[in-house]
Amino acid sequence: RSEKKIDSILKLMTLEEKIGQMTMYNGSWDLTGPPGTVSAKDKFEKLKNGKIGAMLNVTSAEATREAQKAVMKHTRLKIPLVFGYDVIHGYKTIFPIPLGESASWDLELMEKTASIAAKEASAAGIHWTFAPMVDVSRDARWGRVMEGAGEDPYFNSVVGVARIKGFQGDDLSSAHTIAACAKHFAGYGFAEAGKDYNSVDVGVYELHNSILPPFKAAAEANVATFMNAFNEIDGIPATAHKYLQREVLKDGWNWEGVMVSDWGSIGEMIAHGYARDKTHAGELAIKAGSDMDMESSAYEIGLKSLIEENKVSMALVDDAVKRVLRLKMKLGLFEDPYKYANPDREKAEIYSESHQEIARDAARKSIVLLKNDTLQTDKSPLLPLKPDQKIAVLGDLADDKDTPLGNWRARAERKSAISLLEGIKNAVDPENITFARGPQFVIDNLEEGKRQFLWPLKFNKNDTTGTAEALEVAKNSDVVIITMGENAYQTGEGRSQVDIQINKVQKEFLKKIRKVNPNTVLVLMNGRPLNLSWESENIPAILETWHLGSQAGNAIADVLLGKYNPSGKLPVSFPRSVGQEPLFYNQKNTGRPYSRNTVTFSGYTDSEKSALYPFGFGLSYTSFKYDNLKLSDTTMTKNGKIVASVEVTNTGKKDGEEVVQLYIRDLIGSLTRPVRELKGFKKILLKTGETKTVSFEITKNQLEFYTANKIWDVEPGNFRIGIGNDSRTKLGAKFQVLE
Ligand code: IFM
Repeated sequence: RSEKKIDSILKLMTLEEKIGQMTMYNGSWDLTGPPGTVSAKDKFEKLKNGKIGAMLNVTSAEATREAQKAVMKHTRLKIPLVFGYDVIHGYKTIFPIPLGESASWDLELMEKTASIAAKEASAAGIHWTFAPMVDVSRDARWGRVMEGAGEDPYFNSVVGVARIKGFQGDDLSSAHTIAACAKHFAGYGFAEAGKDYNSVDVGVYELHNSILPPFKAAAEANVATFMNAFNEIDGIPATAHKYLQREVLKDGWNWEGVMVSDWGSIGEMIAHGYARDKTHAGELAIKAGSDMDMESSAYEIGLKSLIEENKVSMALVDDAVKRVLRLKMKLGLFEDPYKYANPDREKAEIYSESHQEIARDAARKSIVLLKNDTLQTDKSPLLPLKPDQKIAVLGDLADDKDTPLGNWRARAERKSAISLLEGIKNAVDPENITFARGPQFVIDNLEEGKRQFLWPLKFNKNDTTGTAEALEVAKNSDVVIITMGENAYQTGEGRSQVDIQINKVQKEFLKKIRKVNPNTVLVLMNGRPLNLSWESENIPAILETWHLGSQAGNAIADVLLGKYNPSGKLPVSFPRSVGQEPLFYNQKNTGRPYSRNTVTFSGYTDSEKSALYPFGFGLSYTSFKYDNLKLSDTTMTKNGKIVASVEVTNTGKKDGEEVVQLYIRDLIGSLTRPVRELKGFKKILLKTGETKTVSFEITKNQLEFYTANKIWDVEPGNFRIGIGNDSRTKLGAKFQVLE
C-alpha cells in the first residue's frame, strides 16, 4: 500500500519539488554566519517553497515544529520534512564514546543505549541519526577512531547491527525510534597515514573482505539510510562511486534505503579534481546513487538543467525521491508530521533517572584494566582499592565535568558529567580523599572563546604550578589515583594526530609522582589508542576509561573500589610506538613473518612488531583458566557444521565476566588470508571456582571470504582455530573443509 501511495505522490510532483526532496540543509538559523551562508530568512523561504526536504542540526520539539509548520502550511504537496542529527553516543544522557562502549563487548547493552539515545532524540523532534559509524579503523592517528567499534570487520558488523536495532527498534513509525545511518560508505577509516579526509588506496579484495562486511550486515539489518564518504578510493570519490553505491549496495544487496551524501561531499568533488563545477558534481553524484545532497546545494543548482539537457534521466531522480518518501512514510510522518515534536515528552523523558542508571552500567562495562601489579607493602594487587586507604586523587581531569562527555556529545549540557572526584567521593568516606590538581592540562576551548574547530586547536595548558602541592599529597597517601589522557575534542572529525602519547606536561608530572609514591594507579581518559610504552613499564596499575559519558565518575569509582569487576576488552590494538600504525591484529603473514636471528624479516629493527596491548585484551580482578579445547569433528563439508568448545574456569577469588573469543585462520587460499580473524565471542559470568563450557558453531558464515573468483565462498582446505581471552589465543586446533 505504501509503495502505491509513494507512486501516487511522485506523479503529482514537479521536478523542482523532487529536487527539494533530495536536498538537505543545515538548520543553523544564524543570520550572522560567514559570507555566502544562506540566512535564516532565505531558509524559511526555501522551506515554504518546497526546496528543502530534510534538515540537520535543528533540535528541540519547538524548533522542529516551527520548521515543519512552514512546510505543512505553505508547500503545495505538504510533504513533511525529515530531521537528522548526529546522535552518536546519546542525546542528553551521554553514554561512553562508541569506541569505549565497544570495549564492553556487550551487544545487548549497546542496543539498549542506542534505544535510549533514540528515545531522547525523538522526544526532541529528531527522526534520524547519522549513526552508527561502522568504518573499520586501524590507525590510532585517525581522530574518528573514537566513533566506531575499532579495527575488526566482524566486530564492527555485530556492534553496528546492535546499534541499528537499538535506534530503529522493530517499528520505525513508533515515536520513540529513529532511523539509523550506516556510515561512511566506504573506506573512510582507511585514510592514508590516518589523516582525516585523506585518500584511500585499497584493492577490490581488501574492500570486500575488510571494509564492506559491516555495511553488508547493516543493509541486511534494514538500516534505513547510508551516508557516503569524503574520501576517494583509488581515484574515485566515494560520493561518485557507482560501483559501491549502485552495483554493490543498491543492486547487489537489494537495499532500498536513502543514501545521503556527507556534509558538502558532492561539492568537494571539485576540490578533489573530479568535477568541473557543482552541476557536474551533482551529475556524478546522482548517477552514482547519492540520493540526498547534504549541504552542497549541487542538486538544487544543477539537477534541473541536467534533466532538461538529457544528461541525467528522470528515472534516477524518481528512484532517489521514492527512497526519501519511503523513509518519511516508514517514520510515520505522513500520518502525523509533528508526532516526534512533543514538548511534554521532551520534558519528561530526557535525562531521566533510569537513563542515568543505564549510563553508569554502560560506562563501567566499558572500562578496560590494562595492568594491575602488586603493592609494595603487602604484595596484594593495587586494585581494587582497600577500605580505609588514604587516597590521593590527582590531575585536573579528575575534577573535570566536561571531558568525560567526549566529542560528538549531541545536546549534552556542558560540564554535566559526574567527575571522577565526585564519583569517588560518593563511594568512600570523603575524609580519606585528598584532591590536588597538579599542573593544568585541561583547556576549555569554548571558555577560551574559541570555536572547537579553528586550527590550530590548543588542547593542553602548560602551567606547572600546583605540582609541589600534588607531590606533598601523594607522599602522604597510601595510594595515588592519577588522571591523564586527552581533551574531549582531541578525537573526532578533523582530529588526526601524529603524536599519540600522553602529553609532556602530564608525563613529567606522572614521573615525579611515581617517585614519591610508587603505589600509583593511572586512570586514562582518551578517545584513541595511545602509545603507553613508558607507562606500562613504569606504572603498576593502568585503567583505560575512554570518555565515558554522563556517569563517568561513578562508573570509574565502581571499578576502582571493586563494586564492579572490570570486564572490558580492547576493540583496538594499542601500539608500542606511533611508527607501527596502522596496527591491527588481523594482518597478513607475509613471506617473512618471523626472525631467524636476522633483520631480514617483516618487522622493525628498533621495536617489537607486536602490539603493546593487543586487540581483545583486558584484565579482571579475578583470573580465568582455559582448558580442553575440543572440536566435534576435524573435517566438515562446505555447507556443514562443526562445534568448537572450551572449558573456562574462574580460578580467582572474585566473581567475574569474561569475553571468550574465537579466531579462525584459513591456511591456504586463492588469496592470502589474515593470520587470524575474530569469528565469534561470548561474554559469560563465572562465579569464583565455577567452570563453564563455551561452544561456538563453525559454519560457512565463519569460513567464507571474497575469493579470487570475486564471490563469497568457502575454499576447501585446512583451517586453524584459536580460542582465548584476547587475540593471541593460546589454545588451538585444526580442521579441514573437504572438497
Ligand atoms: O554525520 C556527519 C559525518 O559523519 C561527518 N560530516 C558531518 C556529518 C553531519 O554532521
